[in-house]
Amino acid sequence: MTEITDILKTMEYGMAPEDSSAVRDWLARHEAGFGHFIGGSMTAPGETFEVTAPASGDVLARVTQGTQADVEAAVAAARKAQPGWVGLSGHERARHLYALARHVQQHARFFAVLESLDNGKPIRESRDVDVPLVARHFYHHAGWAELMETEFPGAAPHGVCGQIIPWNFPLLMLAWKVAPALAAGNTVVLKPAEYTPLTALAFAEIARECGLPKGVLNIVTGDGETGAALVAADVDKLAFTGSTEVGRIIRRETAGRGIPLTLELGGKSPFVVFADADLDAAVEGVVDAIWFNGGQVCCAGARVLVAEAVEERFTRLLSARMKALRIGDPLDKNTDMGAIVHPVQLDRIRRLVAQGVAEGAELIQGDCPEGCFYPATIARHVEPASTLATEEIFGPVATITSFRTPEDAVSLANATRYGLAASIWTENVNLALDVAAQVKAGVVWVNATNLFDAGAPFGGMRESGFGREGGREGMGAYLKAPQPEGWETAPEAPGAAPGLGQPQQGIDRTAKLYIGGKQARPDSGYSYAVPGGLAGLGNRKDIRNAVEAARKAKGWGKATGHNRAQVLYYLAENLSARATEFEARLTASGSSDAAQEVETAIRRCFWYAAQADKFDGAVRPTVGRHVTMMMPEPFGVMGIACPVEQPLLGFVSLVLPAIAMGNAVVAVPSQTHPLAATDLYQVLETSDVPAGVVNIVTGERDVLARTLAEHDDVAALWYAGSAEGARVAEAASAGNLKSTWCLGSRDWSGPDGQGRAFLERATQIKTIWTPYGA
Ligand code: NAI
Repeated sequence: MTEITDILKTMEYGMAPEDSSAVRDWLARHEAGFGHFIGGSMTAPGETFEVTAPASGDVLARVTQGTQADVEAAVAAARKAQPGWVGLSGHERARHLYALARHVQQHARFFAVLESLDNGKPIRESRDVDVPLVARHFYHHAGWAELMETEFPGAAPHGVCGQIIPWNFPLLMLAWKVAPALAAGNTVVLKPAEYTPLTALAFAEIARECGLPKGVLNIVTGDGETGAALVAADVDKLAFTGSTEVGRIIRRETAGRGIPLTLELGGKSPFVVFADADLDAAVEGVVDAIWFNGGQVCCAGARVLVAEAVEERFTRLLSARMKALRIGDPLDKNTDMGAIVHPVQLDRIRRLVAQGVAEGAELIQGDCPEGCFYPATIARHVEPASTLATEEIFGPVATITSFRTPEDAVSLANATRYGLAASIWTENVNLALDVAAQVKAGVVWVNATNLFDAGAPFGGMRESGFGREGGREGMGAYLKAPQPEGWETAPEAPGAAPGLGQPQQGIDRTAKLYIGGKQARPDSGYSYAVPGGLAGLGNRKDIRNAVEAARKAKGWGKATGHNRAQVLYYLAENLSARATEFEARLTASGSSDAAQEVETAIRRCFWYAAQADKFDGAVRPTVGRHVTMMMPEPFGVMGIACPVEQPLLGFVSLVLPAIAMGNAVVAVPSQTHPLAATDLYQVLETSDVPAGVVNIVTGERDVLARTLAEHDDVAALWYAGSAEGARVAEAASAGNLKSTWCLGSRDWSGPDGQGRAFLERATQIKTIWTPYGA
């Protein structure tokens, strides 16, 4: 007699194809080609290109290659619509967003099928993950629109947002970009990826159907050239998701324009399995981490790091599971892994894997049909510095590497230039949270992977980009806080940074630099004349030494807020004790209101001391059985180029919030009046500020700021100076894609010289998902 288990073992799956007739009818209605969605209607098709279904190679549609004129027309439509849109109440905007959410739900099946056809992802994913998250995103942000007036009082939208999205989650990325932008009162010009523009065009129809005012959302299709035209266009904010390479280009192109930028870029995320982990659950985790969407996921857990003690068993279990994955027709409901988005991407995966094999990697692979598919792959014997361990493959390829101790695991996890996500598997809560604190990643999942929610900020550290999408933080990216005139937009007039005059020798009478807690002679041996004396003329080498000293001051970031607060209170008191000296120094430098400047600087030290143990994160309700923590973390080493005006107060206003949050700083004080800052050396020493936490290099601000911007160990840069200096610093920051903040001139003694914005800018959010109530 046949046992049921025998039946199950031999049972073949039949095809269970999803019905695609509605989508095919829709495509047939657009046989003549798609135009753009501008000002509430579809334009006539222009020069078009083919959009194909990667699984079959069939041509699905012809789509217009957006020209510069198209982009400009879309920006003009968005600009025209913006006053009306922001003129609505938050509640009225919320109603529009609710309508979009509901319409997405009503057309959920249509969107899922279209997405799977266009992108090649399995219908199970588009139906159960992408589209529900799209609806969730619009609902969540309808809520933010509703609450705008009470939750973000006084805040205003930027205006017109340019948004460029990739092909891996086409409709979901649209939702991530469009929902917060519209909720905040911005209007949008969005460019979908050239491989996958169809769901965005279908969404445009939905927007029209549910009465979104004309011009609030505009969609221009095309390739990278269209994207570049949008970057160059007259927009007030740019948001980009895609490759790190293009992120760098956009950083350079937008440098000095004073428009806020969010970049969500690549990753090479670690998936760490400790010996005590639930191995079966961790195996399923890897399936979700690297074979979800064929590994074409920016936060894919591409580097599986396994404790040596369980490596063999884990690899055996994982290989067996991998071989059971079904690869094939995306529209078959039984399919686990669909097609690779485009033959170009398939070639890229093949090339990188071949390179890995040439470097000694050994592959374990599952089955794979003919066509634009790639098998689920595990690569072993991969050296940490090799291609497969370092390059973002963006395909279904996981590397497996073993580690011995948790310290090894952390150092392997962090051995990457990226910092997007990490997944940690262990039954030991102490270990999980200890490692979560140490990994360089914007998102950490404990005993889970690839969880997303509209309420949880998502975004990277290091070369994975900057800025967060989702939750309150994501809304913040589409809003300007109540701001003073000229905030970020009126940098010091060009040429206002005076020249240095003749460099002078005679270094012994000169105020020295301050590096690693010690006074140091500038490498150049030169000084320059400033009111009240001479200051050292710092150069690249001094900056490098100062960064090295700051790197060594890591303990500061790990100190408790209370410890840091105590040091800062002490600093405030010591500054207070020497107030008259500082007043004299400022008066000698030509200040007309030295007493007030010193008094405000002292108060500011107290204020940031008070904040050191109070500026905190949050806990968000997200998806069931998880608690999601938002932890603000220091960047590590920050570079700060201080304003020329109000030399003591400008310095304190920027350096204090940075160190209060646990950063170590390399600061370039006022170029013209640096001696108020160099007088602080003794105050810093007597206040027990640890060596290396504050380093001061005097000299030519813009030259030194550029060196800081170029330095890979500087994780964030604040620049308060000229428009040209800001441009140079931001362009130079593209190397490691550090977060930059260019501050215009302002009255540092006013309320704009101090506040939470400084603390927010001195930290980056780490979103940690942990099991809770399971
Ligand atoms: P990509 O970065 O070139 O494309 C993303 C978007 O940027 C598309 O809409 C594209 O048209 C646009 N774009 C391209 N060049 C542009 C420019 N100069 N200015 C403005 N917009 C521009 O990504 P691509 O070439 O499709 O994929 C290459 C690699 O990038 C992948 O293998 C993967 O490693 C990575 N990638 C990462 C993504 C992520 O979410 N982190 C998403 C897509 C790709």
